[in-house]
Amino acid sequence: MLSKEDNMLIAQVGPGTAMGEAMRSYWIPILLSYELPENDGRALRVRVLGENLIAFRDSEGKVGLLDEHCPHRGASLYFGRNEECGLRCVYHGWKFNVSGTIVDMPNEPPTSTFKNRIKANAYPCAERNGVIWAYMGNKSDENRPDLPDFEWNLVPESRCYISKRVEDCNWVQAYEGGIDSSHVSFLHSRLNPTDFTGSPREKGMKYMAGDKFPHYETIETPYGMMVGARRSAEPGYHYWRITQCLMPFYTILPSYGTDSPVSGHAWVPIDDYSTMVWTITWHPIRDLTQDELDDMKYWSPDRVGTSEGNGRHLPLNMYMEETSIANSRWRSKLNLANDYLIDWNAQATKSFSGIPTIAMQDQAVQESMGPIFDRRKEHLGTADLAIIRMRHLWLNTAKGLQERGVEPVGVSAPATYHIRSASMRLPEDADWVREAELVTSADQSKVHFV
Ligand code: FES
Ligand SMILES: [Fe+2]
Repeated sequence: MLSKEDNMLIAQVGPGTAMGEAMRSYWIPILLSYELPENDGRALRVRVLGENLIAFRDSEGKVGLLDEHCPHRGASLYFGRNEECGLRCVYHGWKFNVSGTIVDMPNEPPTSTFKNRIKANAYPCAERNGVIWAYMGNKSDENRPDLPDFEWNLVPESRCYISKRVEDCNWVQAYEGGIDSSHVSFLHSRLNPTDFTGSPREKGMKYMAGDKFPHYETIETPYGMMVGARRSAEPGYHYWRITQCLMPFYTILPSYGTDSPVSGHAWVPIDDYSTMVWTITWHPIRDLTQDELDDMKYWSPDRVGTSEGNGRHLPLNMYMEETSIANSRWRSKLNLANDYLIDWNAQATKSFSGIPTIAMQDQAVQESMGPIFDRRKEHLGTADLAIIRMRHLWLNTAKGLQERGVEPVGVSAPATYHIRSASMRLPEDADWVREAELVTSADQSKVHFV
């Protein structure tokens, strides 16, 4: 349960809000590089942290991110002419480079210094391995943090698959679904636990199906929090699933099976009422196979995927047609208005929810809570420990920055983001934290899963 004030404090992300300012201390992933495919190509509407922005790639390939509205009289720069290292407003021809500097003001006399006194609001961008990041905070070039060392953003692109989808609800309830290990035994389960496929994932899935009330422990880390969910395994052993919670809105999920890829999410707030869910699956030491990629891109009720990532990503045939509205390319055809195409017959006979794909199962329950759930009305149990701890971390971070200027957790520790998750079968008396620390470093070349 949270008070109304604390609930809104973590939910609201616009400029000037406590959580919004905390988030602006970090680099934010905003686009995949292929969304801006060519130099001098069309500009793109972007909405993130409640701000309407325009992204463009200039003649040299550099990415610019400007306020949507031209600082002259507010026309949208979406219609701008992207030419010779700048975006030119089509209303009166003012032209801006990627830093927001006005490089041409053709409706003023050439002798005028007016253009030197005005700038468009522009956010610095960085691009690495197919991902465009923006820094929306107020630190100058030299004081800005480095990009976080996520393994998925450091491996070659052939080892990583990223998809995105828009969720119509606040980022907090979306994120909380991502660290809530106990729902996996229900929402994503099949009715008949013997209905497995012989894949290497099965051992872990059977432990999950066999113990539906895991014991949780959490520890704080330099990047946020590590969560251990302990379930019964064979006599004398426990099955531990380690989830990484990285500030401000990332998760790395425990996978199944040896040689399995790893998955994680970034729950990036579009505004207070919608979230861009990035789903990322990567293999630390080898390229993803064609089978693994197909499992992520295609889905049908008859196709039972065998690899990590199947159903976690929204399949390609479930996206709506793109329009020029910001983020429209990442909307699902399955939504609240059509009940996410739930198959009631499948719910009765095959799967716990009847909703197609893990991604849509998550989205359905998270959106069904309403735009921002009133957390005065909830009743948290022992299974919700990780959520309770994460809320404390967010609240302390947001209030610490707002009230005392304390830098948010992880901003100055980008190297500590170089970690993975793990799932482990350990003897009952083992120290899970020590074991987890040994196997979750992304520096070692082995992937650790049961
Ligand atoms: S509104 Fe953009 S140049 Fe006038
Ligand atoms: Fe889920």
